[in-house]
Amino acid sequence: MNHFEVRDGALACENVPLAAIAEAVGTPVYVYSTATLERHFTVFRDAMRGIGKGEPLIAYAVKANPNLSVLATLAALGAGADTVSEGEVRRALAAGVPPERIVFSGVGKSDAELAFAIEAGVAEINIESEPEFDRLEQIALAKGARPAVAFRVNPDVAAGGHAKIATGKADNKFGVSMAEAERLYAQASNGAAVRPVGVACHIGSQITALGPLEAAYGKMRGLVERLRAQGLSVETLDLGGGLGVPYFDEPEPPSPAVLGGVIAKALDGLDIRLAFEPGRVITANAGVLVSRVIHVHERPEGQRFLVLDAAMNDLIRPAMYEAYHDIVPVAAPDPDAALLAYDVVGPICETGDTFARGRRLPPLKAGDLVAFMSAGAYGASMSSDYNSRLLVPEVLVRGDRYAVVRPRPTYEAMLAREPLAPWL
Ligand code: LLP
Repeated sequence: MNHFEVRDGALACENVPLAAIAEAVGTPVYVYSTATLERHFTVFRDAMRGIGKGEPLIAYAVKANPNLSVLATLAALGAGADTVSEGEVRRALAAGVPPERIVFSGVGKSDAELAFAIEAGVAEINIESEPEFDRLEQIALAKGARPAVAFRVNPDVAAGGHAKIATGKADNKFGVSMAEAERLYAQASNGAAVRPVGVACHIGSQITALGPLEAAYGKMRGLVERLRAQGLSVETLDLGGGLGVPYFDEPEPPSPAVLGGVIAKALDGLDIRLAFEPGRVITANAGVLVSRVIHVHERPEGQRFLVLDAAMNDLIRPAMYEAYHDIVPVAAPDPDAALLAYDVVGPICETGDTFARGRRLPPLKAGDLVAFMSAGAYGASMSSDYNSRLLVPEVLVRGDRYAVVRPRPTYEAMLAREPLAPWL
């Protein structure tokens, strides 16, 4: 459920017409709904409440949508943050996420990033390899700190979905193997440099089937039991993120409540504190990308291109993962108008700058607005200024108010980023 609905004949975000935002801020522009963000976080949190020991940590995956106002909205509800760079840790802290709710993950954390995370006092550093463990031990010893660590395990489970975002098979770069986890956990527990608190896994993103998740949970449970059987203390189990969202009329992904039921069953009696790292399921349907039609190019040979002012630099998911986003006219169309097939494209000079082929839409003309739905996750966060297009702005709506939470830069600011070499 989300708060983008047709009101008085046009699509609105909560009580604010998208056309009003497009008029005031210009297009393309991302628009987020506070009510939807709050709802999705609350639904997820409530679904996991009562599973495991104490209150689970819901560490929102910052990469999905790192806008400070989005983070602050979630932090106010008690969200933690799953972070993968010093920049993301800094964002989480700046948005009011307390360090004890920050998880620091990532395949290749630098020495400087590890040192920063130790100093920040994050809840846990998720170690993904033995060389990283060795470096962290050295850094922690030099600092005289004893950071809490978890081992991210690669459970060797195929998550399904797009290969570019599956992470849980042994040939993916993520995490240590089960055998390595057992050895390193014992080594860490016997050493003085770090304090092992748990194990973590994350098998992929946009997961729509429960089977792979269930398989991973079963393997993680087995690992916790084996570690405990060796007399080692394992306090937390981080089950990662990955729950999919409905982008179109596909079989609906399981709801957080259904997922919670599966987890409760898989971990029954384990007596462990749980952590989760949901990203997409919190923010995807809380955001849209609003774009204006530049013109319609109809060739006599029959192709019909809908040329938008948004491009792959603003929303790269279709180009990168062949992802489907619903495209909806902002002004409710005449219900009797016959649909037309459009190739929906942006102005960038590559064929990959195509959002959809043969998409059936009501007749559109230059100046009309369209909204890309479910664009709140991995939309603005993956945007760039490729083709020297200005970085797309972001707007947060709350009830009948809205705020520009990332303004569109000026061309002057874009040019000023690059000092000329002194000899030029
Ligand atoms: N935890 C870890 C360690 C992750 O690597 C990720 C996502 C998450 C949590 C959050 O996963 P989510 O709940 O959002 O599925 N750019 C791609 C998605 C990349 C996901 C990367 N890792 C896309 O646009 O589909």
